[in-house]
Amino acid sequence: MVHYSELFLSAGRCEIPSSTAVVPLPEARARPESKRRARLKVGTRGAQRVEQSGQREIAHTPVLLKEVTSFLVSQRDTCIVDVTVGLGGHAEALLQADMTLELLGIDRDEEALSVARERLAPFGKRVRLVHGTFRELPQLLQQAGWEYVDGIFADLGVSSLQLDRGARGMSFRLDAPLDMRMDQHHGMTAAEWLASATEEEMADVFWQLGEERSSRRIARHLVRRRGLKPFETTTDLAHEVASAVGQATHRRQRIHPATRVFQALRIFLNDELGELAALLETAPKLLRPRGHMVVISYHSLEDRLVKRCFRSLDRCGFQLPVRRVVRPSDEEVVENPRARSAKLRVLERGDVR
Ligand SMILES: C[S@@+](CC[C@H](N)C(=O)[O-])C[C@H]1O[C@@H](n2cnc3c(N)ncnc32)[C@H](O)[C@@H]1O
Repeated sequence: MVHYSELFLSAGRCEIPSSTAVVPLPEARARPESKRRARLKVGTRGAQRVEQSGQREIAHTPVLLKEVTSFLVSQRDTCIVDVTVGLGGHAEALLQADMTLELLGIDRDEEALSVARERLAPFGKRVRLVHGTFRELPQLLQQAGWEYVDGIFADLGVSSLQLDRGARGMSFRLDAPLDMRMDQHHGMTAAEWLASATEEEMADVFWQLGEERSSRRIARHLVRRRGLKPFETTTDLAHEVASAVGQATHRRQRIHPATRVFQALRIFLNDELGELAALLETAPKLLRPRGHMVVISYHSLEDRLVKRCFRSLDRCGFQLPVRRVVRPSDEEVVENPRARSAKLRVLERGDVR
């Protein structure tokens, strides 16, 4: 069932544009004093988390911000839907760039939505935030009373909050329960899936979604190990994947041997490619004439789907204002290493619907 938690935010003034804003994380206030002292900066897709004097905060630097704004902000009353509103970084910049723009922000992660709510509160009724997924986009637009929109924006992948919050279990850098769901109220956790999948299913997921060459060896090792003790934590899984891959292969790799397995599990458990395919199927039809759909992807499986879809629509009532993929500048990558794999593509609806 769709959980539609719509929030009309209270009226307020827009502030001076700033691409890096610091917003408080809601649950941080309850943390014990002893854990509050450390000041840490964690690189997350353009985000820094700063822990300081009792307030844990996120400073989020959205990727390809100028490019996104230039494609989505036009000089007319504009309705934009940001289907991956996350921590509200891109949304904030769009709202600041055009004082008449209205934005519907969607995310499947309740925790991210509550951060976005606080961050975007100064924009009042120009912003509505709803919980939902790409698949639900047509219904969510209808419920918002919008038939067509001028812009659709998707910044795929995971947010800094999901990656760097230990409890989400998406990264092996932090010891945490093996969850990995973007929406913590729906679907199977990684621990549950690893306890029930067959060896073949595991190998297929690791190979198809992680392009992991040792997929079969890893799957065999994990099935043998779970017979002795179920997988419960990220570090336990990462350790077992590393043992399956072995020392020799481990040394030849530039990345941690569990990187691809973790990526594959996350994409699989959140059905990221199925969700993206559903978005690409419905979203272009929801654009007004001259409206733009902008998608930023972070790995080749996603970008391939976007590229194919946009090319197939070219000259069929749509056009590609930029034929090639847009990449971040060297300066942006130096400032924000997580931008390095970003690829932005744009689709424009033709004049006649
Ligand atoms: C890279 S983050 C977006 C960050 C955002 N642009 C910002 O500047 O703060 C991606 C967000 O998309 C959300 N997301 C991913 N897949 C989704 C889906 N199928 N439906 C709804 N939200 C999704 C994630 O929960 C995450 O919060």
